[in-house]
Amino acid sequence: MSTIMLSGATGLLGRALYQRLAPHHQMIGLGFSRAQPPLVKVDLTDAEALSALFSKHRPEVFIHAAAERNPDQFDTDPQRSIQLNCEVTEHIAQLCTEYQCRLIFISTDYVFDGLHPPYEEGAAVNPLNLYGESKARSETLLQANYPDAAIVRIPVLYGEVSHLKESAVTTIAAQLKAGQRQFDDEAQRLPTDVNDIADVLSNALHMMNNDLSGIFHISASEKLTKLTMAQAMAPLLHIDPNSLSAASVDSNAAPRPKDCQLRDTRLAPMGLTIDSDFRARIATVIAPHLSH
Ligand SMILES: NC(=O)c1ccc[n+]([C@@H]2O[C@H](COP(=O)([O-])OP(=O)(O)OC[C@H]3O[C@@H](n4cnc5c(N)ncnc54)[C@H](OP(=O)(O)O)[C@@H]3O)[C@@H](O)[C@H]2O)c1
Repeated sequence: MSTIMLSGATGLLGRALYQRLAPHHQMIGLGFSRAQPPLVKVDLTDAEALSALFSKHRPEVFIHAAAERNPDQFDTDPQRSIQLNCEVTEHIAQLCTEYQCRLIFISTDYVFDGLHPPYEEGAAVNPLNLYGESKARSETLLQANYPDAAIVRIPVLYGEVSHLKESAVTTIAAQLKAGQRQFDDEAQRLPTDVNDIADVLSNALHMMNNDLSGIFHISASEKLTKLTMAQAMAPLLHIDPNSLSAASVDSNAAPRPKDCQLRDTRLAPMGLTIDSDFRARIATVIAPHLSH
């Protein structure tokens, strides 16, 4: 059992990580606007408050899953987004060094430009939007100054949501419900269930005795576009999949890479792979939201 501090514990991924790790570890879950006990409410941009939490709990592992992860939000409020994704990460890395705590930083496939998939862990980053840039900047900082840190890149996520618009993948079901019939068919995504990420990370911590450093990729293996995801969800909403078609790209949205498929050369050889069926999993996730 380790003492693990987890930021973003109220978020889509953090909730799954907390649930998966809590039976085996002493967890200190951090949230902000949605934090309810036993989670600790803290604004990570409040440097003093964050330092006080390290001093009080002395975590052995810090999983940093809190972030601004919506690329379009960077256009709306770039200063707050950069502060959260970059400055807070640097402060956490400093505290981890001071308290000899292992840092696991959650990053994204959006650090890549999507032109040359699949991307191995050592591939050169070249983000297309400010969100990807903020994550790449934190990665570079960690690699240069905190080489013991682990950087875990993951693709677009789905999982249990409080409302359909909480994740980019389940938003498609909300759009179908609202009558949308055209979806992007260009960008290839590898939607991954947060429970699968939590399983792989939990097993990796166990198998490697918390000793994770360097870059790791965790991803499902099924490639889908928004259109093919919508076609998979349509029958669940009693919509004919053949009534759906390709949309033209939204020129107002932050640019998205075309295909950032992550190749995992480190965890897969340890047997830590994901082979979930998207259609079966997404049906379970959206089922509670279909009647209203
Ligand atoms: N979602 C995806 O498709 C995706 C894809 C690739 C990578 N990722 C990465 O995976 C990680 C988790 O993403 P997610 O989808 O779980 O995010 P999320 O659901 O949007 O959750 C964000 C979390 O950050 C917390 N947070 C935001 N501002 C904060 C602040 N000032 N102080 C403290 N906490 C703050 C939120 O707390 P409250 O809600 O309580 O305010 C929430 O727990 C992120 O690093 C993200 O970049 C996500």
